[in-house]
Amino acid sequence: MPEPPFLAACRREPTDRTPVWFMRQAGRYMPEYRAARAQQGILEMCHKPKLVAQITLQPVERLGVDAAIVFADILLPFEPLGVGLSYASGGPKIWRPIRTPADVDKLEHVDPARHLAYCLEGVREAKAALAARFPAVPLIGFAGAPFTLASYAIEGGTSRTFETTKQFMYTHAGAWHGFMERLAELVGSFLALQAAAGADALQLFDSWAGCLSCADYQEYVLPHSRRAIELASAAGVPVIHFGTDTSTLLELMAEAGGDVIGVDWRIPLDVAWARIGGRAVQGNLDPAVLFAPPEVLERRVKEVLRRAGGRAGHIFNLGHGIQPGTPVENVKRVVDLVHGRA
Ligand code: CP3
Repeated sequence: MPEPPFLAACRREPTDRTPVWFMRQAGRYMPEYRAARAQQGILEMCHKPKLVAQITLQPVERLGVDAAIVFADILLPFEPLGVGLSYASGGPKIWRPIRTPADVDKLEHVDPARHLAYCLEGVREAKAALAARFPAVPLIGFAGAPFTLASYAIEGGTSRTFETTKQFMYTHAGAWHGFMERLAELVGSFLALQAAAGADALQLFDSWAGCLSCADYQEYVLPHSRRAIELASAAGVPVIHFGTDTSTLLELMAEAGGDVIGVDWRIPLDVAWARIGGRAVQGNLDPAVLFAPPEVLERRVKEVLRRAGGRAGHIFNLGHGIQPGTPVENVKRVVDLVHGRA
């Protein structure tokens, strides 16, 4: 079987068509997902490997995307870490946020092979389901990057300004680095285990790293992302390094590692690619364009493709995840436009 276009693009090999998938492609914008979700909470869903496989395949069935991403969440390691995790309508809630160095010391030791075994089982089930029904579609495993996880653990939930996180980082530099080292080992080894369980590629989500200055990213974050990516890369599958609002950080993110660098819509794809240099790139349609009328949608999709210029190593994606309420038919139309069928 020829190599799937998504994996070829990760390796910057030429493909007959641009591969496309979407961050958050399984989720509330999709009626099939909402039907399963109506019965139970997201945490409960993540704990059921057969259901995980089913939800992972929904966007492959419905949209014809070139990759599946295992259904899970970046915050799942918070359960065994002992900080308390639940999801409410306003977003995730961490019940015992990390506010002092003593809070870091109190964290439980997490062994992903044991404490996140149910996620690895989800990866195995998803891979088996794909092999049976869509053998040419690769599976992506993922984890949150140390900074993005630390920000949730410290803020206690979603934040706009990350003041509490930055205050901790500046005030307790030793405890910060200790916490980040632990998170890097955890997510790096968790990613490698997902590859061993069947993931064909891995994505590290550093969704909120863009709130940092270059100097702070370099000092407080880069070594830890590098360590996580080094551990993940040892599994021998491509690693995608993703962040948003990272126009100023792209070179540093590339320095931290990743075969593919995720790019958001705030910067033209070709400008970003020139700065990143010899890596593959993933992106970078604004998720809000999925709410636009057909002619604007088509113009913006073609604009991304024009800037990629048919060069090997472009994976089409959004610059961030699909929003709830997105019309499914528009997502499908993007797949068809990228595949040259619309
Ligand atoms: O991409 C996929 O289809 C795979 C599944 C996936 C989820 N979360 C499922 C989910 C992935 C890859 C994630 C990653 C994730 N989770 C990130 C990084 C990507 C990004 O968007 O920046 C972050 C920051 C989180 C943390 C998180 N989980 C938030 C902030 C929320 C609440 C906001 C929201 O979108 O609902 C979640 C919950 C969550 N994770 C849902 C899903 C499908 C919605 C849960 C529900 O059904 O109510």
